[in-house]
Amino acid sequence: MAYQIYPKSFCDGNGDGIGDLRGIISKLDYLKDLGVDILWLSPIYCSPCADQGYDISDYYQIDPQFGTMEEMDELLSEAKKRDMYILMDLVVNHCSDEHEWFQKAVKDPEGEYGKFFYMAKLPDGKLPCNWRSYFGGPVWEQIPGSDWYYFHAFHKKQPDLNWENPKLRQAVYDMIKWWLDKGLAGFRIDAIINIKKVLPFRDYPADRADGLCSINTMLHEARGIGAFLGEMRDRTFAPHDAFTVGEVFDEKDEELPDFIGDNGYFSTMFDFKETIIGKSPKGWYDSRIPEPDEYRDNCFLSQKRSMDVGYLSNIIENHDEPRGVSHYIPQGDCCDRSKKMLAALYFMLRGLPFIYQGQEIGMENTVFHSIDEVDDISTLDEYQVALAAGMKPEEALQAVAHYSRDNARTPFQWNGEAYAGFSTAKPWISLNPNYTKINAASQAQDEESVLHFYKKLIALRKNPEWKETIVYAETVPVLTEEKNLMAYFRKGEKTLLVIGNFQREARTVQLPCEIKQVLLTNCERIQTQGVQAERQELHLEGYQVIVAECK
Ligand code: GLC
Ligand code: CA
Repeated sequence: MAYQIYPKSFCDGNGDGIGDLRGIISKLDYLKDLGVDILWLSPIYCSPCADQGYDISDYYQIDPQFGTMEEMDELLSEAKKRDMYILMDLVVNHCSDEHEWFQKAVKDPEGEYGKFFYMAKLPDGKLPCNWRSYFGGPVWEQIPGSDWYYFHAFHKKQPDLNWENPKLRQAVYDMIKWWLDKGLAGFRIDAIINIKKVLPFRDYPADRADGLCSINTMLHEARGIGAFLGEMRDRTFAPHDAFTVGEVFDEKDEELPDFIGDNGYFSTMFDFKETIIGKSPKGWYDSRIPEPDEYRDNCFLSQKRSMDVGYLSNIIENHDEPRGVSHYIPQGDCCDRSKKMLAALYFMLRGLPFIYQGQEIGMENTVFHSIDEVDDISTLDEYQVALAAGMKPEEALQAVAHYSRDNARTPFQWNGEAYAGFSTAKPWISLNPNYTKINAASQAQDEESVLHFYKKLIALRKNPEWKETIVYAETVPVLTEEKNLMAYFRKGEKTLLVIGNFQREARTVQLPCEIKQVLLTNCERIQTQGVQAERQELHLEGYQVIVAECK
């Protein structure tokens, strides 16, 4: 089982309001006790933090706000003592404009380091292409005081690295090897689908009033990323036997085996099918929250397409997404029981489950009173997009708040005391005010808590009796004609039934198999009368989930 840490918001070890390595080290026993095997740290390299560390100015240094290289080494060895593996974030589609490479490129755009980036002059006064960067505006930015422009798919402080240049690729591989030699187990690989561009640059039809087009239009057309990814695997990951998980959006179905099949580019990659349901090309303001059945259908689609290919990594949230419980559970119904249901439904799927920090205690989306409270550059951009679409400021804030990446970035709620036990100082970003009710300390005391439910799920997945089936067995959807119900078998050494009533109302369904024993449920009291084997019917309370062994 894997766990994502967003270091800035996990635990502050030195009392400056910013989470750090010392804080992470202090929580290793908590993570071990939860059952974590693999820890992925969002970026902790030197960074001016325009995009919270996803803009790296030195790949070989730890940013002082997070600690020192000695502390990183300590983390690696402390994790090893506990049989835990550490993954870092590999952000190599772009670096920071403050990286030495870019600083040199700016001074001499036609020189060696200029070729590490995409640089252009505009002889006819027109940008080389009309693509819109992910965080808004054109992908081209002028170098101040120069007639040169550079390309950035994300923020203007994140210039894209030119993967067509073998020297750049070599520099990236050297850096990867350096970290693996240090004892790192592998990487989560950021935004990797962006490294291959359609060249030469050209315009696509505009898709918004700004005259620009989504960068995705170009990505759909781009071919040949495999040559880069295969080379990276062969030169870096494979010789070290490194574990890798790709952040890959929109890969073509027929490409899946290349990515995660035998000798694929990565060990696994995230399943984002559910995350993108309802997202509008117009922007967050126009997006809609998924229905339970859409969530189910997309999970099953991913299970099906990966079954004979490899393993996807399953998530309900991460540092870029709303909190899963606030997003997938219908509004007004977010409670301990529904949180546990969602947990079991995704956790029991075939694949590698990732837990994002705080998910295990059921942390929820936060509240924003004003746009001034927002830190995330993506939210600030989407707010402008909503305003441009004609929304009033209040409406625009409401419309984008649900999707704000800050929802997942509020400090971890360790206890109900000052600053939620995250720090002794005011945190860098506001706490979710619900920390007095939702926190790890109180849940640790409560056998019925979301935290304990996660522990049971993790223990079940590791139990030698069930492990084989939970990890490897095929997922077979059942009762798919039922509305607001997600049910599936895992058919392997044993047969398991996972069934969740994705609605407030109780219901009775035909049992698709005879139950031998219930392994886990979130409504302990009704478990026995619920499973009426002789009538082959199953009573489910609202948001009840059951994991059972079939006869
Ligand atoms: C990935 C990261 C996100 C970041 C972007 C640019 O999508 O998860 O946080 O903003 O890449 O690096
Ligand atoms: Ca700190």
